[in-house]
Amino acid sequence: MKLGFIGTGNIVSDVVTGICKSKIKYKTITISPRNKEKSKKLKKKFKKIIIAKNNQDVINNSDWVFLGVLPEIGEKILPKLKFKNKQIIVSFISTINYKKLKKIVKKKLKIVRAIPMPPIRLGKGPIAIFPPDRQVKSFFNKIGTTVEIKNEKLSNNFWAISGTMASFYELVKVLSDWLVKRRLKRIQAQQYITSLYSALAELASVNSKKPLSNFVSESQTPGGLNWQGVNELRKAGYYRSMENSVNNILKRLNKK
Ligand SMILES: NC(=O)c1ccc[n+]([C@@H]2O[C@H](COP(=O)([O-])OP(=O)(O)OC[C@H]3O[C@@H](n4cnc5c(N)ncnc54)[C@H](OP(=O)(O)O)[C@@H]3O)[C@@H](O)[C@H]2O)c1
Repeated sequence: MKLGFIGTGNIVSDVVTGICKSKIKYKTITISPRNKEKSKKLKKKFKKIIIAKNNQDVINNSDWVFLGVLPEIGEKILPKLKFKNKQIIVSFISTINYKKLKKIVKKKLKIVRAIPMPPIRLGKGPIAIFPPDRQVKSFFNKIGTTVEIKNEKLSNNFWAISGTMASFYELVKVLSDWLVKRRLKRIQAQQYITSLYSALAELASVNSKKPLSNFVSESQTPGGLNWQGVNELRKAGYYRSMENSVNNILKRLNKK
């Protein structure tokens, strides 16, 4: 199997790294020359990576073509490209919907939209795909956990949640900075916070069939430190703001 990537940016670097470290069998991975620095770095790091001359060259050398450009770039470059028969197209582009992709691609090919997240480079994390597809599901299950979504409107909810990633990192940054202000070494503060939050998430994840509300109640005692923490934030509207923000991201996605 020959894989190709158009747009060698952040998420493509993560996905390519995940693939190269996984058990996925592939002949070559052809990446587009942009971004220059990122493509060179990937080629240096992994075998079987080829930097194409241009985007058409990526398509010509691949059985599966992954689209990893920003939506406005996709709208501009995709209509000029010629896809091959029997090619599989996996699009990471957030706001070009399935119908539009089909129109742009012009050929009757298998097209799947996917939402990989950066931890895919560790072979971890969810990859939501639309429409459901056995082949693409099995591929992503080797570098994470594939979640199949039956209708595209529903998949926008997952895109909206994917837009909370930076706010999560901002939260752990604020807490780490707080420790640093109290004279802790930055490295120690960061190790503590990231280890705590990844362990908390892992505990919830291995018990993901239990209601999350159990974790909220079991991690506090009336009048205790966690009780104070969660209630102060509730009162301040912290969680309401988070819900409002996800709603606003979703509204933006649904307008497209
Ligand atoms: N980041 C995520 O966690 C994530 C998750 C899921 C989906 N996505 C989606 O994936 C897409 C890419 O996101 P990203 O965060 O990886 O963005 P990014 O880091 O900005 O990557 C986009 C890449 O496209 C390249 N590019 C620009 N013009 C091009 C052209 N004409 N031909 C080929 N490549 C070109 C850019 O190269 P230059 O630097 O040279 O301009 C850049 O390397 C977006 O649609 C996004 O919604 C991202």
